[in-house]
Amino acid sequence: MKRMVIQFGGTGDLAQKKLYPAYAHLMEQGFDFTVLALGRRFSNRKEFLAAMVSDQMPEFFLERLQYLYYDMADPHATDPLREKINAIIDNSDEVELIYYMALQPSLYEEAIRQIQDVDSQLSCNCNLSKKIVVEKPFGFDLESAQRYNTILLKAFDDREIYRVDHYLGKEFMQNLLILRFHNDIIRSIWDNRSIESIQIIFDETHGVDQRLGFYEQIGVVRDTIQNHIMQIITYLTMNEPATLTPEDIAVEKVKVLRSIAPITEFHTGRYESLGANSGHVVSTPTYAALTLSVNTYYFAGVPIYIRTGKMQSDAKSLIYVKFRNTTQQVMHDTSIGENGVIITIHPELTIDISMNLKEPDTSWKSKPVRFRFNQAETFGANTPEAYEQIVKKILQGDKSLFPSMREITESWRIVTPMLEEDRHMEVYPVRTLPRFATELAKKNAFTWFA
Ligand code: BG6
Repeated sequence: MKRMVIQFGGTGDLAQKKLYPAYAHLMEQGFDFTVLALGRRFSNRKEFLAAMVSDQMPEFFLERLQYLYYDMADPHATDPLREKINAIIDNSDEVELIYYMALQPSLYEEAIRQIQDVDSQLSCNCNLSKKIVVEKPFGFDLESAQRYNTILLKAFDDREIYRVDHYLGKEFMQNLLILRFHNDIIRSIWDNRSIESIQIIFDETHGVDQRLGFYEQIGVVRDTIQNHIMQIITYLTMNEPATLTPEDIAVEKVKVLRSIAPITEFHTGRYESLGANSGHVVSTPTYAALTLSVNTYYFAGVPIYIRTGKMQSDAKSLIYVKFRNTTQQVMHDTSIGENGVIITIHPELTIDISMNLKEPDTSWKSKPVRFRFNQAETFGANTPEAYEQIVKKILQGDKSLFPSMREITESWRIVTPMLEEDRHMEVYPVRTLPRFATELAKKNAFTWFA
């Protein structure tokens, strides 16, 4: 079978940093496909390769990486694309085309239209199959997401549509389900009878200036909250699925999303130097802090505190599940530490369970200690990158790591009130936590874990 990935956004940041390395690794593992990168930043393949692909990339990848100058604004842009594809599918018995859209959401509608235009006029006497991959955020808001989906469904069957959230390709995410559903001791404590609160912290040190064009249209809510954070919440709080098939998992995730109460506590800010070199004012939120709750039978009453954003002093990504501390009351000892599960994603992948154990040579005094699992120490440092997992699943036709349209719709519904434009936005100095994040903790009487 001949298989080709047609890469829309082929000269973008995502393609360069994540997708091309993932394609190269997968080819090395024996996956057989070629890549046709589309873009208008370079007029020819030589320039494209010089600017986009490192010298370290293996020869076998470079041989299979083609480039086509493609200006979406040109009404004839699809002609050379169709010719290229026809040249590939000529003389083949079986062909698979994978259209991969890594574009700004504002270009999606036109890209889908152009893909349909190309696709409907391909001439092939072969067995031709197709897939379409759409990067997050899927849509710009609820209405546009539904509109894109309707357009997509005119040319593709839902099983051919892969809506990407690369967090589902991350090892820690999949481990959350294993931790929860393969351990009886966890099962009995994972609900509002034992859990007091949950924190999700995603602090990044980098800013957005290299991706300003993309990020300016998006902001933190569409960039990470509508997708990565909502997916993490579903994995943390969903009931056990009937099986681990994508359909059964999606049913449980949708239940969680539908049970999220309207969010009332939400603040945003942007870092001071955002867009400083762009020559125009950029007032896109780059940091957010919020509280939400999942009103299911098992999680109602457990506040989930979230903070996420750019230009912080340390890269810290973690989930902290804090358990109730009734022992302090029962033992009349306020020094007893709390129990918690800490899932750290950055700087390294670890899962800690904190427990209190006796401090030697004391009389019944305990000290919090941590039981740690370290992914790299246990399984080796070569855990595949999330994008490698995602692309592998697409090639294999396995939809287990892709959010369903219902999940995406529900997530947009939840974040819609956060997208109001007249919201107050704090301007925070780089490398500092915005004031509202500190105040949110104070108001709710908790301390951020990191
Ligand atoms: C991307 C966002 O989806 O996720 C980025 O667009 C963010 O802004 C990134 O930095 C975080 O992903 P990771 O894999 O680096 O944790």
